[in-house]
Amino acid sequence: MTEKILVCTAWPYANGDLHIGHLAGSYLPPDTFARYHRLAGNDVLMVSGSDSHGTPITVRADAEGVSPRQIFERFHARFLDTFQEIGVSYDLFTHTDTENHHRIAQDIFLACLNNGYLYKKRQFQLYSETEGRFLPDRYVEGTCPNCGYDGARGDQCDNCGKLLDATELINPRSKTDGSVPIVRETEHFFFDLPKLEDRLWAYLNDHKDHWRPNVINFSRGYLKEGLRGRPITRDIEWGVRVPLKGYDQKRLYVWFEAVMGYFTASVEWAHNVDQPEKWKEWWYDPAAKTYYFMGKDNIPFHTIIWPGELMAVERLYEDDPTKKLNLPYDVPANEYLNMESQKLSTSRNWAIWAPDMLERYDPDPIRYYLTAIAPETRDTDFTWQGFVRRNNDELVATWGNLVNRMVSFAYRHFEGAVPQPGDLDDQDRDILAKAEAGFQSVGELIEAVRLRAALEETMRIARAANVYLDQKAPWFQIKEDRGAAATTVYVILRVIDNLKILFAPFLPFTSQRLHEMLGYDGQLFGRQYTQTFAETERSHTALCYDNSQATGRWQPSRLPGGQKLRRPSPLFKKLDDDTAEKELARLLGSS
Ligand code: MF3
Ligand code: ZN
Repeated sequence: MTEKILVCTAWPYANGDLHIGHLAGSYLPPDTFARYHRLAGNDVLMVSGSDSHGTPITVRADAEGVSPRQIFERFHARFLDTFQEIGVSYDLFTHTDTENHHRIAQDIFLACLNNGYLYKKRQFQLYSETEGRFLPDRYVEGTCPNCGYDGARGDQCDNCGKLLDATELINPRSKTDGSVPIVRETEHFFFDLPKLEDRLWAYLNDHKDHWRPNVINFSRGYLKEGLRGRPITRDIEWGVRVPLKGYDQKRLYVWFEAVMGYFTASVEWAHNVDQPEKWKEWWYDPAAKTYYFMGKDNIPFHTIIWPGELMAVERLYEDDPTKKLNLPYDVPANEYLNMESQKLSTSRNWAIWAPDMLERYDPDPIRYYLTAIAPETRDTDFTWQGFVRRNNDELVATWGNLVNRMVSFAYRHFEGAVPQPGDLDDQDRDILAKAEAGFQSVGELIEAVRLRAALEETMRIARAANVYLDQKAPWFQIKEDRGAAATTVYVILRVIDNLKILFAPFLPFTSQRLHEMLGYDGQLFGRQYTQTFAETERSHTALCYDNSQATGRWQPSRLPGGQKLRRPSPLFKKLDDDTAEKELARLLGSS
């Protein structure tokens, strides 16, 4: 049965490059997941975009003396390159400054208002007398009232994860000039979360059994503390306008509006592919499954706030009163990736930036290592030594050598073609059965978003293939019994052909190359490309994906004997022993 799978990834703030923490936590897992589901024949829609609003953008714009639009456009363009190079296969990666997003976000705001989930309230906010304006949350720093951490931001404490109201900070100070802000009154719209409390509890209870423990625990803890109305407008200039008269000075709060991007991008995608109603298949069919990938700091926005907004809206652009917008089915948030035993820090430049790493390393080894150490259930540690070791011992020695040796062997000894096998013995049948069983076992693990385990399981099969090969030793067989060697080589090529697909969601580039070496034509996956779309006042460039020519299938190999091979070349490069040392020196030099 074909399933509808919506794959959503957190919208990165377009105020700086992506680093390995973003890739490991938020972008590679959903790509692996989406690629698997496409191979399995399911209807995947994968969307996200650059978060172009919010103080992370305006802080940087102020610092550089340029407009917020210039900042996000610069990094948005770089995100498109990074995602294309590392192969994150979005059907649409857009941004939140499109007319489409502004318009639909305003419609969602109005739906919440009309359905009775917004109210107006006068509120106290921090005001900078030196700058003559209300200070956005992120412009304020102070002591966390929850855990006592001194560097808490006005919106959230990075130490304990608690969402804060800037006025709760103890000893607040302006990040711009260090001055002490005063508290001043202003009027804002509030989102009535308390009104949704019962439904949110019911929602969490419905999903508790398949969510990761950290995600369900955090979300329940959040509800247990008691919900409060959340202000969802701000006195700022950069953002989505409040669609009501008399609110010219206010904008929607970025966190209220950015999460709507999952919906607005789905609508934009449908429009782009000339099937304007098609998004509804993922948003209104109750059988569709929607997955949201992110780092753990994003959990409450995706398990409480966004589901709350969807409940409040109930339905949009849909007249059938029996239909309701789908709530997130799973929110497989990841813990953090550390680096060389220290917390990643962009301000201290303790990070490896994706564009930089991609200049020196191929995408698949990066994907491999970041999946092998993915912080699925606890914080994990990236080390250069680990990267080199995993590349050399696993990708090169176990998987790459198996492929390289045997495709070359067949190429040399069997006239450049897959040999015709004779009768199979138990060992042959056993290794083929092991490889074919992988479609079940690896598939189940990926579906459960246990990608680390899925990759280990695949590598386990590659190891078994090496054991089989050493037992059969076709390099000896060929000297005495060419027929026996032909059977072994056929079996191992067929196992390799199976592993090619099992590895493909993780290692799409090398699996495609192997596909060609094995003599196939065509693409396992669809084609990624950028396209510029015109809107009334502006145009924007987005990453797109065309799956119509993809031929990859999540099913056992039927490799035909006699199929012509193409000249083999190694899939992976061995990294020099001093690579880690050099990279560490480089890192220490730049941080
Ligand atoms: N821009 C936010 C961040 O980088 C994430 C936003 S996710 C969204 O942390 F869903 F709200 F868009
Ligand atoms: Zn705290």
